[in-house]
Amino acid sequence: MAQRIDTKDLNIYYGDFLAVQDVTMTVDPKSVTAFIGPSGCGKSTFLRTLNRMHEVIPGARVEGSVELEGVDLYGDDVDPVAVRRNVGMVFQRPNPFPTMSIKDNVLAGVKLNNRRISRSDADDLVERSLRGANLWNEVKDRLEKPGSGLSGGQQQRLCIARAIAVRPQVLLMDEPCSALDPISTLAIEDLIGELKQEYTIVIVTHNMQQAARVSDRTAFFNIAGTGKPGRLIEMDDTATMFSSPSQQATEDYVSGRFG
Ligand SMILES: Nc1ncnc2c1ncn2[C@@H]1O[C@H](COP(=O)(O)OP(=O)(O)O)[C@@H](O)[C@H]1O
Ligand SMILES: [Mg+2]
Repeated sequence: MAQRIDTKDLNIYYGDFLAVQDVTMTVDPKSVTAFIGPSGCGKSTFLRTLNRMHEVIPGARVEGSVELEGVDLYGDDVDPVAVRRNVGMVFQRPNPFPTMSIKDNVLAGVKLNNRRISRSDADDLVERSLRGANLWNEVKDRLEKPGSGLSGGQQQRLCIARAIAVRPQVLLMDEPCSALDPISTLAIEDLIGELKQEYTIVIVTHNMQQAARVSDRTAFFNIAGTGKPGRLIEMDDTATMFSSPSQQATEDYVSGRFG
């Protein structure tokens, strides 16, 4: 239930603007990979190419390849909707459907994918997904209540439950804790530590301590100046990236000396 990702010579464009240049990287299955780097260096852009959400923006396109277990996600016969089911995404701001019940929020992705399921299968899936997201005990007595009644941290775990309900292989998270308080942040970090046993996880974070705490590997992206493309500077085991990176720019960034 976890797949390896390989990008090769990936160039990412918005129209004529080259936003991210020439990224070749491997993301290991059943592990957490953190993307770090200054604002605007293309972390979110790169992340969205890993499940073909980038091309939803008019004029947006890629050159190069992204492979999931050796299969090119941009191949001619690949259905982008199937890719997005297989490679789930969790966003910066928790975005449950506010008027929908907690239960229906968990099932939303499954229903969007037109899968018909019986009521008892749906109940099982809701429980399993909420347990997987470490939220079950907090919401099991109010499954019919709206998702908007939950705290920010609970809403983010609800979004994670919704993402895993469709049984993806990969989970992409774009700054999933940036709108959360420290306690909720720790709950999400603990959850990420558990989820990596089953999924390939990529997390974008601005929080160096968070990258150090949750990830096995870290990729540092940087940008030479406004209007220039973002590039992958280096990627290594997280401990190495934070103690003895091979590039000066990485050292400067992780130690807080940048600009
Ligand atoms: N929808 C978009 N249309 C055009 N340019 C965009 C769009 N989204 C991001 N960009 C540009 O792409 C570059 C990388 O942005 P982004 O991926 O958001 O960086 P990060 O997530 O590292 O802060 C920036 O120059 C940004 O202005
Ligand atoms: Mg971003």
